[in-house]
Amino acid sequence: MNIRERATDILSKMTLKEKIGQLNQEAFIEDKYEEIKEKVRRGELGSLILANSATSGNDPQQKIFTDALNELERIALEESPSGIPLIYGRDAIHGHETVLPIPLALAATFDPELVYNGYRCVALEAAKDCVHWTFTPMLDISRDPRWGRCVESPGEDPYLGAKIAQAVVNGFQDENIAACAKHYIGYGAGEGGRDYYNCEITDYTLRNVYLRPFKAAVDADAATVMNSFNTLGGTCASSGSYLIKTLLKHELDFKGFVVSDWWSVAQLIKQKLAESKKDCARIAINAGVDMDMADRCFIDHLEELVKDGSVSQETIDDAVLRVLCVKLRFGLFENPFSRRKAMNYSDHDSIAENCSDEALVLLKNKNNVLPLSKNAKTVVTGPMAFEKRSLLGTWILGGDMSRVSSIAEEIKKANENAVLPSSKYLWDDCYWDIPDSDAVIVLLGESYKMTGEANSLCNIDLPREQLEYVKKLHRFGKPVIGVLCFGRPIGLEEAEPYFDAIIYAWHSGTRSAQSITKALFGDINPSGKLPMTMPRSTGQIPIYYNNAATGRITMAYYESSRAYWDRSSTPMYPFGFGLSYTKFVYSDLSPQDHALSIDEIRNGKKFVIKVKVQNAGKCGGKETSQCYIRALKSSMIRPQRELKGFVKKYYAPGEESYIQFELGFDELAFFNESSDFVVEPGKFEVFVGSDCYAKEYITINVKGTRD
Ligand code: GLC
Repeated sequence: MNIRERATDILSKMTLKEKIGQLNQEAFIEDKYEEIKEKVRRGELGSLILANSATSGNDPQQKIFTDALNELERIALEESPSGIPLIYGRDAIHGHETVLPIPLALAATFDPELVYNGYRCVALEAAKDCVHWTFTPMLDISRDPRWGRCVESPGEDPYLGAKIAQAVVNGFQDENIAACAKHYIGYGAGEGGRDYYNCEITDYTLRNVYLRPFKAAVDADAATVMNSFNTLGGTCASSGSYLIKTLLKHELDFKGFVVSDWWSVAQLIKQKLAESKKDCARIAINAGVDMDMADRCFIDHLEELVKDGSVSQETIDDAVLRVLCVKLRFGLFENPFSRRKAMNYSDHDSIAENCSDEALVLLKNKNNVLPLSKNAKTVVTGPMAFEKRSLLGTWILGGDMSRVSSIAEEIKKANENAVLPSSKYLWDDCYWDIPDSDAVIVLLGESYKMTGEANSLCNIDLPREQLEYVKKLHRFGKPVIGVLCFGRPIGLEEAEPYFDAIIYAWHSGTRSAQSITKALFGDINPSGKLPMTMPRSTGQIPIYYNNAATGRITMAYYESSRAYWDRSSTPMYPFGFGLSYTKFVYSDLSPQDHALSIDEIRNGKKFVIKVKVQNAGKCGGKETSQCYIRALKSSMIRPQRELKGFVKKYYAPGEESYIQFELGFDELAFFNESSDFVVEPGKFEVFVGSDCYAKEYITINVKGTRD
């Protein structure tokens, strides 16, 4: 029997009560263990979430009690009415014991294969601790850095988001951990960057922007999807059947199950869509939510709802079948117990370090002040000098702190003339040492607690006290090297002139300090690129590269225009931007075909775009060449630039080589006014370069007549 047949066979032997038990997930709370055992014995639990609070992204977490979890599985298999194993879920968002950079920084690597390998390490560590299912990847396209959860996202671009989605889903599921694409859908568009807030997204934008990463996750056979908290045009993912049933399960043909976000079913009462938890259960299960996280709406009310006809038996059976198929697919009926394997933590550390190496973005390097000599006399200062926990970022429920170094101690190891702060608290104690130093390294940043869930900011400019400090350091007339450890993009226009160099280091996980040190002294050449626009200041938000053309003021993002009187309209640093210690030169951009017909494209023919990239500098380095299209004629307004390809490659000094991009149906198509995914005839400009400001372009022509 195949999985679906096995699931159908199991379902056929279950009572209604047993079926509903499979749709109930509750939190594993240590001091409620005895109570949980009884619930398992009675068949009231299909799953446990290994977290002890609703915002476990930043709250201190209990450890994982592997023996207790194994015992609960034994009870489920041997003593519960249906003998169905539990599925344990956990937020292994970007790490378990070994911590990768935050997902936004992972997106900055523009290296899906590296991200894939990073998540395989996370999966192995999580599986050892009885985790069967992770609530990852978070795929909310984020255009607002005020939103604390942008740090968990793949950034502002749908194409990059789709590549990350695929890498993370495969990274976990290839190690037999079920993935979960979240938060479906539109969560990153909350008004004002406020968490959980209302979003107004047209169906056109929903399909062409926010849905793309979820489609990639579903196409990668993601086992589950999690609905979001936000409202969307008067409904929300846990209440309206269009989003889950029509769009996700029918149009995208999603065959896994949908789990609600924590209490997002019961919250329908607060949103005045329901008057009771019974009403919440009815609305959510009929909207397509299959499993209910933490609020017991399903387990307490579905049985009576089926009996009174408000919820059909078919609805229950479909939900249970989806859950059983996932449990069977990931082998839980054969072995739900912790898969204790010897962990190769040094391997995991080196993969994590590769990730943090490639996540670093060099934003400024005036007079090539970087890399510094290892013999230089440097003065190290700033609030992140000895900080460790924040280097890991938010949504780290475990994280082995014993393996985390501070940036100051790693700099000292590499640069023996470095003068470290004598105080962890007084920043100005370094002034004495600056006059006869060669450079000041100022380590700035934000606490991980300022990011993640329910941690949005109204002002995302560099914190005032840090700005004033950098100005004081600048007055000494020595080069000021800024290392910025922020989770989100921040506004740097006021601060930028006081830095001679800026490395954007994000919150880059277990090996942050080692990667930052290697970049400062030239052991690596930074290659990260911005996955999200860096505004000049908060007032510009929302500001993102793939904006639509306007009919009046020339588009503010690409050239300064009077979008504001008091501030330039261009960003501080654009999407895809990132410098290198070397220089890359693009030339000889050419298409294999200048024109193809729509039929040829529908039949799989693609435009092949070649370009020569040369490392014109003195040191080797990786370049992420990016390919953007711009439709010159379309039935709907399309973005001024759309990323449709990127190639990351190492070039030795002086090396030049041709790379190519392929633009076929998937790259040229968009969801039109009737929500059909179509390629329209007309010309496209194709830009190739180091970021979305790429100047080199050619024109291609799609011949034919519009459908
Ligand atoms: C939280 C988050 C979600 C997380 C879930 C379980 O509220 O919104 O991302 O996976 O609850 O911890």
